[in-house]
Amino acid sequence: MSFQTGVLIDLAVSVRPDDVSGSSAEYPDRMSAMEGRLQSQEDEITLLKSSLADALRRLHLHDQLIPLLKQQLIAGPHNYSKMCLHILLCHFSVLSLSRARRNSEKAAKDNQDKTKKRLEKKAASSTNLLTRSPSLESEGVIIDLFLILSLAGQSIKMFIRGRPITMYVPSNIQNYDDLKMEPPVEKLELDWVYGYRGRDCRANLYMLSSGEAVYFIACVVVLYHINNRTQRHYRKHTDCSVTITAHQLNSVDRLRCPLQPYVHIWDSSTLTTLQQIGLGTFERGVGSVAFSFADAGAFLCVIDDSNEHMLSVWDCAKGTKHAEVKSTNEAVFAVEFNPSDSSNIITCGKSHVYFWTLSAGSLTKKQGIFGKYKKPKFIQCFVFSLTGDVLTGDSEGNILTWGKSPGDVKTLGKGAKETFQIMRQTRAHDGSVFTLCMLHGGALLSGGGKDRKIIRWSADLAPERECEIPEMFGAVRCIADVDGEEVLVGTTRNAILRGTFSDGFVAILQGHVDEMWGLATHPSQDVFLTCGHDRLVCVWNTEEHKLDWCTTLEEYGLCADFCPNGDVVSVGLSTGRWLVLDLKTKEVVSDYTDGNEQLSVMRYSPGQNGSFLAVGSHDNFIYIYTVTESGRRYSRYGKCNGHSSFITHLDWSKDGKYIMSNSGDYEILYWDIAGGCKLLRNRYESKDREWASYTCVLGFHVMGVWLEGSDGTDINALCRSHSERMVAVADDFCKVHLFQYPCPKPKAPNHSYEGHGSHVTNVRFTHCDSHLLSMGGKDTCILQWRVKRGGMGDGSGDRQHHAALTSTSSLEP
Ligand SMILES: *[C@@H]1O[C@H](CO)[C@@H](O)[C@H](O)[C@H]1NC(C)=O
Ligand SMILES: *[C@@H]1O[C@H](CO)[C@@H](O)[C@H](O)[C@H]1NC(C)=O
Ligand SMILES: *[C@@H]1O[C@H](CO)[C@@H](O)[C@H](O)[C@H]1NC(C)=O
Ligand SMILES: *[C@@H]1O[C@H](CO)[C@@H](O)[C@H](O)[C@H]1NC(C)=O
Repeated sequence: MSFQTGVLIDLAVSVRPDDVSGSSAEYPDRMSAMEGRLQSQEDEITLLKSSLADALRRLHLHDQLIPLLKQQLIAGPHNYSKMCLHILLCHFSVLSLSRARRNSEKAAKDNQDKTKKRLEKKAASSTNLLTRSPSLESEGVIIDLFLILSLAGQSIKMFIRGRPITMYVPSNIQNYDDLKMEPPVEKLELDWVYGYRGRDCRANLYMLSSGEAVYFIACVVVLYHINNRTQRHYRKHTDCSVTITAHQLNSVDRLRCPLQPYVHIWDSSTLTTLQQIGLGTFERGVGSVAFSFADAGAFLCVIDDSNEHMLSVWDCAKGTKHAEVKSTNEAVFAVEFNPSDSSNIITCGKSHVYFWTLSAGSLTKKQGIFGKYKKPKFIQCFVFSLTGDVLTGDSEGNILTWGKSPGDVKTLGKGAKETFQIMRQTRAHDGSVFTLCMLHGGALLSGGGKDRKIIRWSADLAPERECEIPEMFGAVRCIADVDGEEVLVGTTRNAILRGTFSDGFVAILQGHVDEMWGLATHPSQDVFLTCGHDRLVCVWNTEEHKLDWCTTLEEYGLCADFCPNGDVVSVGLSTGRWLVLDLKTKEVVSDYTDGNEQLSVMRYSPGQNGSFLAVGSHDNFIYIYTVTESGRRYSRYGKCNGHSSFITHLDWSKDGKYIMSNSGDYEILYWDIAGGCKLLRNRYESKDREWASYTCVLGFHVMGVWLEGSDGTDINALCRSHSERMVAVADDFCKVHLFQYPCPKPKAPNHSYEGHGSHVTNVRFTHCDSHLLSMGGKDTCILQWRVKRGGMGDGSGDRQHHAALTSTSSLEP
């Protein structure tokens, strides 16, 4: 297309060879400026495309309107006095347009593009709103103006990226200007966190003496009681890459906020924050943390993510820095205090093990010497043996035993100092040793990053037992000791297993391992379904807080919807294929393909059997199927053709006859499905239609959820509650918002909730509105929020409200 060529030329001009040979410091700036420009030009193209589509649609409309208009004009212009005439800047030659229509759509677009600027200029200078063209009918004559008629005060324009989106005010709203928005009466409370992050984190699983496993996912630290199967949550974070280390009473989490990383020390029994350490000190983030052991956690050691990997030691009680030193320019993976001597700290990472001594506020370093042994690429982890030796696990699959050798006085002379050397090399795993764990009884466990094995070693490093983790769970990421016999195993495919060598291991927690977008709640049960880029389709139970079942597809799923009868669910995939799964047998009962682009929305029309299924695609079409045999048979009924960009959201009307849809270029279109999948050109006529669900992010009823100056991608999803009293919003900034429904006024008050560590991709209420589910894209985390009805303030207010309700209803028997 012509504007794309423009972009390329622009780029070619900017990256002249002499620019490249110029100042290198200037180059990244130029690159980012160019990227910015490219982005804004792409945005502009999107806008142009959608304005064009809009204009073309209006042309169709006006083809119908013109005869009507002419009648009206002949009847007399006085009749317009009550009407507000919106001018649609048009200067199209009828001839060129009809020719364009006969030719390809592309030609029309080019034509439109060229004339647009001229038109705008003309429109701006035009003062005459309504010109009667004497030869309206004759082709080849320029029509000066197009008119859009709308009754004064009944439409509202909202702008996204400068693009106006017109919404028509429903008739039941008499006085839009006087509408007052209140915050919703309901509030959300974090109820359950599904998922575990083992894929890209080390040391993310600990056991507390309370019987709780501690781990983090998204911005939440989860304390999961493994016997009671209850959760508590600690979430004093604003960003989400948290590492934790557990120590008897206290726990520490690492906060990696782009600007202000710091460490929280909090009490794991009360979840209160005891100390906030190092605000403004750590550069880029915190890599590893460790408590001292010998003095019951008096000190904390932190390694930050700066190039120098600054190592600092902190007094936990006072929150003050005790010592600080540059550790190395290489990656650092772990840090620990010697359990019997807090002045002794060890770090390991890329090709190194360092032994630090803390004395009088300063830290001195000694390198571990590899000598005749091959230096491994990475030292992944280490532990202290009961005898005080350091055992490291490395990328060669070996366990190295380190010991102190007295200074070599013979060759180095009298002042020779003691050194740390390898005493023994033990072959342990194929691939990396990802983790080492000393059990209370003194046995050592090692976990493999490639062979998925857990091996138990005797005190003198003889292998005693081994077992292999099933492939579906991935490799061993970390191991936590439950009671010296039983252990928890965190895996790289985001599962936590529990078990012993004798009885084997079972998953107590499983989650997604890649970005998720598809979320659907069951129409009558406490069940929901998720799907994502990991090709997993998972069915969960909100009451029992568990994964019911999970299946792997050939392609990845992006959207899903339960058939209203609750027996089957359809899942839209990345290739245009969609499957219908039977919830009881877990089998695929139907398998269809529409187009070859990804599907973005599946939606059944309301009614027991869902007489239609709408399939929204990235190919700009909505495919409509009739549904028979209780959701097991589908036949193509029609196709909605009219969007100029990919379908993003759609909803059925309550009578099951109409669809409202949104697209990637912020269109709102209405379709008459029962009447043959026809586009309803006059959007005004759909203003009073009632919708069975409300998930379209653009529409009069949800206009207020958008902030001023929003980008169209700021809100990924929204969902009205079944009660039609509130609407939940998934935004692109890790937040979930709750608004009152309807929400037609900008700057509407809302409750907003943190917890996700990534753009929130979807939200859905459960069938009875008891819970809201929200899903983070990259954080692979599903949060389950309890919906609390209640008055203002916190939980105590809620209880009072509840008490008031029960006391009034106590009059009844
Ligand atoms: C004005 O329009 C209405 C219909 O909208 C029509 O009934 C009426 O006759 C028109 N008035 C005049 C003066 O023509
Ligand atoms: C676990 O359950 C036991 C028995 O019901 C109870 O005494 C204990 O307080 C529970 N612990 C937690 C952390 O919920
Ligand atoms: C739904 O479909 C089943 C089986 O086809 C049928 O027996 C039932 O009557 C239908 N229900 C409604 C409400 O149409
Ligand atoms: C939600 O409410 C907060 C204040 O409570 C306000 O700052 C914000 O603009 C509102 N809207 C959104 C989308 O966050």
